[in-house]
Amino acid sequence: MVTDALLNNQNDEIKTQDNSGYPMQRFSVAPMLDWTDRHCRYFHRLLSDNALLYTEMVTTGAIIHGKGDFLTFNEEENPVALQLGGSNPVDLAHCAKLAQERGYDEINLNVGCPSDRVQNGRFGACLMGEADLVALCVSSMREVVDIPVTVKTRIGIDEQDSYQFLVDFIGTVNEKSGCDNFTVHARKAWLKGLSPKENREIPPLDYPRVYQLKRDFPNIIMAINGGIKTFDEMEEHLKHMDGVMVGREAYQNPYLMAEVDQRLFGSSKPIIKRREAAEAMFPYIERQLANGSKLGHITRHMLGLFQGIPGGRQWRRYISENAHKPGSGIEVVQRALEKISNDLDV
Ligand SMILES: Cc1cc2nc3c(=O)[nH]c(=O)nc-3n(C[C@H](O)[C@H](O)[C@H](O)COP(=O)(O)O)c2cc1C
Repeated sequence: MVTDALLNNQNDEIKTQDNSGYPMQRFSVAPMLDWTDRHCRYFHRLLSDNALLYTEMVTTGAIIHGKGDFLTFNEEENPVALQLGGSNPVDLAHCAKLAQERGYDEINLNVGCPSDRVQNGRFGACLMGEADLVALCVSSMREVVDIPVTVKTRIGIDEQDSYQFLVDFIGTVNEKSGCDNFTVHARKAWLKGLSPKENREIPPLDYPRVYQLKRDFPNIIMAINGGIKTFDEMEEHLKHMDGVMVGREAYQNPYLMAEVDQRLFGSSKPIIKRREAAEAMFPYIERQLANGSKLGHITRHMLGLFQGIPGGRQWRRYISENAHKPGSGIEVVQRALEKISNDLDV
């Protein structure tokens, strides 16, 4: 699917398509705090060449004032998008510039997180009520980088949940900042009373509303997010949208991603086996352990790899019980793999 927006961009420097002409957003793994860290993204990249991978949200405060490097990633992860949390245009521009220099492929502004901490910092989902400020944030970033600056948002907040409110938000940000790339989580957020987890489950999903939004803004590249689990569902969404963003299912059942290139990007390469994917992590794990990483911090992202396969529970249990022990190394994963019978071609 190539939208007008993409055609218009064809001669620009900005990369909005992958090498086969698909929008980079055609399939992406959602930004997930504490989950989509660099180890997780390295693992996901082994499963799919084309998936666009988002970082966890990183606040401008952490990048500017924090101790440590919040922008580290492995070069194998590309294409990778940095999600920023913040609402100070100067700080956002500064961080966006740093991120481009470091090699990120996209900057995404978080306008969807409802946590109290984020609201106190006046960013995340509450920014849906401040379209002018979002536009200023985005245009400040666009002025200093060449890579796409995108926005991830919801369909509304609190009582501000009419279709017109959503149209006004997208329309204002698009017009005032030039931002032509949005991912929409197809449910609203309640800013008071619900935890972030409840805000991913309780407000109902409204896919038709997001399809309508795409119809009303045909020139904006738009991906849909929320509750997507299967390829059939993704293919249905892609009849209406430029892209699908998958969060929890991609994390909890990562093998889903092994078919993304074939099912959604027309690749004819063989589908990697689960066992191959696990083994392909060995050199990475060894390198990371040598650099001081802890085994459990890497293997926790691999626990769901054998979901639904005989021995899959034992794999998960063995790693969970052993990976955090001091000094544990690659042999823990090798032993865990032995729980999956060699007779199984998986
Ligand atoms: C553990 C966890 C952490 C999350 N952290 C972020 C975040 O940092 N930034 C963000 O925009 N959304 C975050 N989300 C929301 C997801 O990006 C996504 O919008 C949501 O989970 C709905 O998609 P899904 O139903 O496919 O999981 C998080 C979700 C989970 C489960």
